[in-house]
Amino acid sequence: MDLPPGPRAPAAWQTVAWMTRPAAFMRRVHERFGDPATIRTYWTEQPMVLFSHPDAVREVFHLDPEIAPAGQSWEFLRPFAGPHSILLLDGEEHLRERRLLQTPFHGARMRAFAPMIGELARAELSGWSGPVIALERMRSLTLEVILRVVFGVRDDREEAELRDVIEGTLGGVRSLPRMLSMALIQRDLGPRSPWGRFRVAVERFDALLFEFLARRRADPGGDSVLTLLLEQRDEDGNRPTDRHLRDQLVALLVGGHDSSAASLAWAFERLARHPAVLARLREGDPTYLDAVVKEVLRARPALTIAPRLLLAPARIAGRTLPAGVQVAACLWLAMRREDLWPQAAAFRPERWLEAPQPNPMSWIPFGGGVRRCAGAPFAEMEMREVIRAAAWLTIRPIGPRPERARRSMLVVTPDRGGEILVVAGL
Ligand code: HEM
Repeated sequence: MDLPPGPRAPAAWQTVAWMTRPAAFMRRVHERFGDPATIRTYWTEQPMVLFSHPDAVREVFHLDPEIAPAGQSWEFLRPFAGPHSILLLDGEEHLRERRLLQTPFHGARMRAFAPMIGELARAELSGWSGPVIALERMRSLTLEVILRVVFGVRDDREEAELRDVIEGTLGGVRSLPRMLSMALIQRDLGPRSPWGRFRVAVERFDALLFEFLARRRADPGGDSVLTLLLEQRDEDGNRPTDRHLRDQLVALLVGGHDSSAASLAWAFERLARHPAVLARLREGDPTYLDAVVKEVLRARPALTIAPRLLLAPARIAGRTLPAGVQVAACLWLAMRREDLWPQAAAFRPERWLEAPQPNPMSWIPFGGGVRRCAGAPFAEMEMREVIRAAAWLTIRPIGPRPERARRSMLVVTPDRGGEILVVAGL
């Protein structure tokens, strides 16, 4: 069975392009080889077939998890994510975990968190003046949101302890050379090797988190996602174990921290270059605010692919693909198709206020099917709260060139971190 065409450059070269210039790489692959196309990188052991047409994307999202599990694509996260992690499970176990984890992220329970997020956002932005690297600040803010709203930390000391240990763990894997070296050799070469240091950091993190969970079990009150997770009961009425809760909190942290920070950094990078959008945001129309959030997620998605590993041959877009390859809905390409998005490269929130509305399988920043982002409503709410507050800043880009995309761990961020000049603060 032949795979669709793709670059013949060595995997090492494709890996570097995929990491350092992902947008340009995907665009070139698409222009040269069309849809679908096959890439080979060290990101996954297997070749990866990228699809972007909405019909093919729907087929990828609806593949039977028995033959196309998504959990296996995240296998490299296991040492941090843990064995109960929704990210790694598939089939029935995954659905069971998903039902538990999604409960706090729906309806009124979730909306109740909005005022707290708005307050944290305004407190962060009120300190801004002069040059700001939005990505750094948004990493700090989205971590604070997770610690306060999801973990339910109650005071500055608890927050500082957890923040410190989380930054120590994630900091080690975000840098490009370290990440490449870890992707190539996930072997423990002693406590001073990058992988060894990462393992030690995870142990420190676990010890602190178990202490924290013990305190919360003893005194569970308060409004947080953890409070709701502590109320969970499985089909047999059992409470979650500490290990299970730990893996749930880590899944929400891994899923929700860098992805939200990257999306918000892109929001600042785009808004600084589009003062008319900021001006219109100040009019306070919630529909327009929603359009800005959707357009940031379309034009600069934080995740570029939703991959599934084929365990048996499968037919997608009229073509049979063999077992042993990764198939991916390419989120980035799907949201850049000129046939579906007129002036696809332009940042134009107004498109969301015009008819006709896009095909749902062409706006897929949160992936789709049974693996669609479990925190999507929360992520959109967080972005709305931050952007609503940011509309009152006067900001300019620092450099004239729009920022390029580059990878940082699992997400795609602006290459200069979303650098802006805050001319007038809140
Ligand atoms: C703008 C921010 C975010 C973006 C762009 C994003 C995007 C995604 C994507 C693309 C996936 C994979 C979907 C697939 O494979 O089809 C995913 C999965 C997931 N996300 Fe998000 N996410 C964001 C924020 C969040 C937040 C805030 C949380 C939680 C608080 C979260 C929790 C998760 C979880 C738990 C999964 C795994 C779902 C599963 O495997 O069933 N995400 N996200």
